[in-house]
Amino acid sequence: MSLSLSKQSVIAVVGAGAMGAGIAQVAAAAGHRVKLLDTRAQAAEQAIAGVRAQFSKMAAKGKMTSEAATEAGERLIAVTELTDLADASLVIEAIVENLAAKQKLYSDLEAIVGVDCIFGTNTSSISVTAMGAALKHPGRLAGLHFFNPAPLMALVEVVSGLATEESVAQTLFATATAWGKTAVHAKSTPGFIVNRVARPYYAEAMRVLAEGGADTATFDACCREAGGFRMGPFELMDMIGHDVNFSVTRSVWNAFFNDPRFLPSLVQQELVDAGYLGKKTGRGFYDYSADAVRPAPATESAKATPTHIVVYGESIVAKALAARLQANKVAFTQSPAKGDLLAQAGDAWVYVTDGRTATRRAFESGTANTVLIDLALDYNTATRLALSVAEACDDAAAAQAIGLLQSAGFAVSRFNDVPGLAVMRTVAMLANEAADAVNQGVCNAQGADAAMRLGVNYPCGPLAWADVVGLHNISLVLNHLSQTYGEDRYRLSPLIQHKVYSKKNFHD
Ligand SMILES: NC(=O)c1ccc[n+]([C@@H]2O[C@H](COP(=O)([O-])OP(=O)(O)OC[C@H]3O[C@@H](n4cnc5c(N)ncnc54)[C@H](O)[C@@H]3O)[C@@H](O)[C@H]2O)c1
Repeated sequence: MSLSLSKQSVIAVVGAGAMGAGIAQVAAAAGHRVKLLDTRAQAAEQAIAGVRAQFSKMAAKGKMTSEAATEAGERLIAVTELTDLADASLVIEAIVENLAAKQKLYSDLEAIVGVDCIFGTNTSSISVTAMGAALKHPGRLAGLHFFNPAPLMALVEVVSGLATEESVAQTLFATATAWGKTAVHAKSTPGFIVNRVARPYYAEAMRVLAEGGADTATFDACCREAGGFRMGPFELMDMIGHDVNFSVTRSVWNAFFNDPRFLPSLVQQELVDAGYLGKKTGRGFYDYSADAVRPAPATESAKATPTHIVVYGESIVAKALAARLQANKVAFTQSPAKGDLLAQAGDAWVYVTDGRTATRRAFESGTANTVLIDLALDYNTATRLALSVAEACDDAAAAQAIGLLQSAGFAVSRFNDVPGLAVMRTVAMLANEAADAVNQGVCNAQGADAAMRLGVNYPCGPLAWADVVGLHNISLVLNHLSQTYGEDRYRLSPLIQHKVYSKKNFHD
């Protein structure tokens, strides 16, 4: 069990931009003297003034005493020379995202600081291994990857390069924990954990959009209202900025030697080419001009409640559907499980998507009136569900299926018949990527899930979510997507296969 750095240890932060200022705030609040250095004149002083104002605000809100706020503010010192950092126990760099600049900074510092001084780089995308290669003592360097804004975001990825000493990673882990953060260990691979595992959140949405499965507002609404995500992928990409999001995707794709798993989207390339970079330019997937009206999600008009409803089995979704129908005083009967059939609504047969299109499923089962619904984080509380209908399904049966869901209190968004709808294909691909990261020793399952909950605010870790859906179901979805597209992008992680065969979950 490693010890965190003591409060007497001086922390140096180099780079006083958005991240450096936030990290300096975290370290000073935790009781350290913090030296802040930036090559830009007055940048460190300005950042410190900003952090002190934050401390005062927190004191005014009763989040810290005013003495504590003053003392924390006084622990921040602006310096101008690298030699001023000689007594630092930890130097966190948050300078420009450039390998040569970061290597130069740390190799200059090696001649100044003590042999025990640890280097923690805040890089988002540069290999820690490559950065360490320029050092005399590469073992002292690890990634210490905070998320923006550092004082608010709980996650810190502690990233070990090939040469990083185990004790250095442990000390950084313990120190980030002592600073009130949730630290996770990661190996230095492209995107570390969060920026790698999050890729499908954007990619699957753009795939569905490009194939005309749903429009942006409808897909976003399903991710929020059924998936429990705070923001849908399109509105989130608009907020991040398409230049930034596209360049992260490209860098992860390039770094994995163009693995199709990470293939960037032409849809996003077009936005970047057009200069439609999102909120910051007033236009991205959505229009942000003053008089723009945000498009509403496609929502089915009210349909009659079917007179004949049967809910099958005891699955999570069947139980939730039955409870909702009961709460709304809708008449239905319950029957023992019948394969994977969820419900019968008049002439319609309703299933949860397994990654096949409704049309393929109707063809394979010989049941023309096949209707599919999407995954929800919690079917008891979800307010909207995506639905797709087989080409052979007659209109009256489709209306009965829609009426069933509406009578259970769901708004219904009808998608064109794309495989896996919105939440199911997204969650399956997030889990697949997280599983590969675990399988390749980048992190463990707990780390992957914590990283996605705390680094990008997902409502549930993808592996824990996959456990609930059932790894057999997740593997079906992915195998069906893989069959449909014939692309390596949807290949099933060996670790999910292994768990299915060994009947184990990620979190047993
Ligand atoms: N912004 C984010 O959301 C975010 C999140 C996580 C990690 N990061 C990473 O953190 C680092 C900093 O990002 P940022 O958004 O704070 O950038 P920023 O542009 O806001 O700040 C960088 C600061 O570093 C200074 N600087 C540049 N070269 C320097 C040098 N050699 N010595 C001293 N100071 C120098 C600049 O003057 C600037 O003030 C980057 O590596 C970035 O990839 C950014």
